[in-house]
Amino acid sequence: MQFKKVFAVAAVAGVALAADKNNSTLTTATPSVTKDCSFSDFTATQSAQVAQVAACPTAVGDITIYGDAFGNIDLTGLEQVYGDLSIKNATKAAGVNAPTLQLVSGSLELNANTILSNLNLAQLTTVGTLNFNALPALETTGLTAGITSADSVIISDTGLSSLTGINVFELKTFNVNNNDQIETINSGLKRVTDTLDISYNAEKVDVTLDQLTGANNIILQSINSISAQNLTVANGSVAVSSSSVDKVQFKKLQTIGKSLTINKNDDLEELDFPKLTSIGGALEISDNDKLDSFDGFPQLKTIGGSVNMNGTFNNGTFESLQRVAGGFTLKTDGELSCQAFNKLNSNGDVKGDKFQCEDRVTTTSSSSKKNGSTETDSSDDSTGAAETTTSKKNDAPSPAGKLASVVAAFAAIGVALI
Ligand SMILES: *[C@@H]1O[C@H](CO)[C@@H](O)[C@H](O)[C@H]1NC(C)=O
Ligand SMILES: *[C@@H]1O[C@H](CO)[C@@H](O)[C@H](O)[C@H]1NC(C)=O
Ligand SMILES: *[C@@H]1O[C@H](CO)[C@@H](O)[C@H](O)[C@H]1NC(C)=O
Ligand SMILES: *[C@@H]1O[C@H](CO)[C@@H](O)[C@H](O)[C@H]1NC(C)=O
Ligand SMILES: *[C@@H]1O[C@H](CO)[C@@H](O)[C@H](O)[C@H]1NC(C)=O
Ligand SMILES: *[C@@H]1O[C@H](CO)[C@@H](O)[C@H](O)[C@H]1NC(C)=O
Ligand SMILES: *[C@@H]1O[C@H](CO)[C@@H](O)[C@H](O)[C@H]1NC(C)=O
Ligand SMILES: *[C@@H]1O[C@H](CO)[C@@H](O)[C@H](O)[C@H]1NC(C)=O
Repeated sequence: MQFKKVFAVAAVAGVALAADKNNSTLTTATPSVTKDCSFSDFTATQSAQVAQVAACPTAVGDITIYGDAFGNIDLTGLEQVYGDLSIKNATKAAGVNAPTLQLVSGSLELNANTILSNLNLAQLTTVGTLNFNALPALETTGLTAGITSADSVIISDTGLSSLTGINVFELKTFNVNNNDQIETINSGLKRVTDTLDISYNAEKVDVTLDQLTGANNIILQSINSISAQNLTVANGSVAVSSSSVDKVQFKKLQTIGKSLTINKNDDLEELDFPKLTSIGGALEISDNDKLDSFDGFPQLKTIGGSVNMNGTFNNGTFESLQRVAGGFTLKTDGELSCQAFNKLNSNGDVKGDKFQCEDRVTTTSSSSKKNGSTETDSSDDSTGAAETTTSKKNDAPSPAGKLASVVAAFAAIGVALI
């Protein structure tokens, strides 16, 4: 049990320290503790029990400090916890003082401490998971030395105005949500291997992650801007939604392993993915009221899932697109014509069973069993030819001249798609 914890710390530290720093002084020591400092699911509900914990420079085991018996929680003296340390529902505690604490090998959780305003974690550098939740009165993290080694950081529903003191280079999870005072997030993170989620903080939150080179899932909701100029790969999905961004730009991003979703961004006017060549899953660009073009994917060759786009598009091309493995649905009430995309379908570049394109003038849809699968499609076609219907909308204007010029603008794509 003790060994397990110690190894866990070494692993956590190794990952983050490998990036830049090498300070293993905190993590190489094997804790040998007296019986008094060996805790087993210990819950302190009285100050005397907190003092018992604070009397241990090194404590082993999972410790919870809980309830409304404390006006202040003083852990001065405690340096290392090999296990979890939780301070929960200490609803009368205005202060948590842990100035000597350097390491928590498991999770350090502060949860539902509703009036906590004064947090001192001056020497804390190493933690498995840092989890701050429901701390509405907390305005500063109290991380004076700063965390240099952590596995995951979750900051939710706090009164923090900025996120200082989190100086890690790699995390599994970085989740910052519902902190309505946080207006800037500027992190030196280089890699996030599981999920990077920044959602529903102050509406104007500007997110800067310019050192980030690799990520897995990226979820950004209700942000004002995003800058991730060094990001080259996202192995999972990327979603930017319900945000006030006017531009979504990932200058160096080359591949997205799963889906890309750009949804409900009312102020969005520009997409810029100059290096993106493949999207492993679906592409969705929908309900972005001001976005009139989906230009911005000049190198995109393959989409491993379906394409689903709607909006008032006047313009949009996928100059390099060669293959869409799923279906294709495009609806536009702007000037964009379906012409070029119909060609994409008839060339067989759209592999999925469904093709639907609806512009101001026409609706084109087709469905087929292109690969002999046993879906219950009414089309009796197993040779690969799609059944296509194009219908003209009765009430739509048919400005032949304008249509011709839009078609001309698409000539370049036609060539690329042949
Ligand atoms: C960190 O320090 C240890 C012990 O001094 C050394 O063996 C290791 O190579 C160092 N690692 C880095 C990345 O500098
Ligand atoms: C490692 O960290 C400790 C505590 O923060 C500090 O006292 C020590 O000087 C550091 N050692 C190195 C080599 O950076
Ligand atoms: C927190 O404490 C209050 C009273 O102090 C109690 O009503 C509530 O149930 C507690 N919440 C949890 C999650 O234990
Ligand atoms: C990209 O990363 C490099 C290396 O860490 C750094 O020097 C550069 O400033 C970063 N780019 C931006 C725009 O911050
Ligand atoms: C992305 O996947 C590649 C290949 O499996 C892997 O080498 C890389 O570490 C992953 N990147 C992240 C940030 O998880
Ligand atoms: C746009 O597409 C999304 C996702 O498929 C859908 O939820 C939404 O209703 C569509 N909006 C319009 C105006 O068709
Ligand atoms: C469409 O985009 C192309 C290339 O960016 C540009 O040359 C053209 O003027 C645009 N057309 C409209 C109608 O905006
Ligand atoms: C045909 O497509 C279906 C649905 O996309 C897929 O499950 C199936 O494996 C495909 N079959 C062949 C022979 O490619």
